[in-house]
Amino acid sequence: MHRLNRILVLTGAGVSAESGIPTFRGKDGYWRNLDPAKLATPEAFAKDPGLVWEWYRERRQRIRNAQPNAAHNAIAKLAQHAQEFLLVTQNVDDLHARAGSPKQKMVQIHGDIFVTRCSRCDFQFRDTGRGGSPEPPAPSAIYPHSGRLRACPERKSNGSIATTSAQPDQEQKDIPKCSKCSALMRPGVVWFGEQLPWDELRRVENYLEAGPCDFVIVAGTTATFGYIIDWALRAIASDGTLVEVNPEETPLSRFATQRLREPAAIALPRIVDELVIYRSSKL
Ligand code: OAD
Repeated sequence: MHRLNRILVLTGAGVSAESGIPTFRGKDGYWRNLDPAKLATPEAFAKDPGLVWEWYRERRQRIRNAQPNAAHNAIAKLAQHAQEFLLVTQNVDDLHARAGSPKQKMVQIHGDIFVTRCSRCDFQFRDTGRGGSPEPPAPSAIYPHSGRLRACPERKSNGSIATTSAQPDQEQKDIPKCSKCSALMRPGVVWFGEQLPWDELRRVENYLEAGPCDFVIVAGTTATFGYIIDWALRAIASDGTLVEVNPEETPLSRFATQRLREPAAIALPRIVDELVIYRSSKL
């Protein structure tokens, strides 16, 4: 049976899937229909900031309309009961926070979609309240197929995203500018080719360096990025338990002590209840 002294939870897009937020690489994932190189890189932003903002505004709107699911709730409950706890999420949505996971026990390693930051200086802000973009979303941004973002059927054979009735004036107006230095503001997320945020990385490292974990859960991620596997393995050290929650096999699977091929909203409440009951019986 497991102790609940030190826990690390690593999550990815699959945890928010049951809240209606698309994953990236799955069957209905964003990267199936859209090209990351045109939406999630510094080069894409330099080339067409309007298109990038349009995509992020759509995603913000979708997240605002979503609710945390049973997986987010279970992780928040685990944070309350573990002696030491850290959640590292790759998700830029705010569903873990809205489920009650405390900020001081959570690292958003790929940033926060509701932060708007300057592309040049250090100015940034986050909408208070329930997420939200600071400016009214562009009219075309709310409805996925009314703007320039087009999914597979309209995708050109060369893999680029089809552009339709773009209105440059309207789009320029919708791109926020920095009130300190007038450069373009950008979403506060990590794009391909960018460094992970140093402070957040430091928080993960500090937690790992402070001692091994009894229990590590990796849920809803393809673990595409090497650091996810690295953190999970360093955390369990020689005798921790590593549980993977994912309906599909991933590169992490072969290292897992237990592989739960179930949706996170089914598996996580059960795991957390078992852990919490066990801990209560030991007190
Ligand atoms: P992916 O879209 O790569 O993977 C989602 C994973 O969730 C897949 O392995 C699915 O099998 C699994 N999954 C789907 N539904 C699930 C459910 N209901 N319960 C549990 N698991 C489920 O998303 P991430 O691994 O989070 O980065 O992607 C990592 C990063 O790649 C993202 O943060 C984003 C993306 O490009 C950046 O934008 C920098």
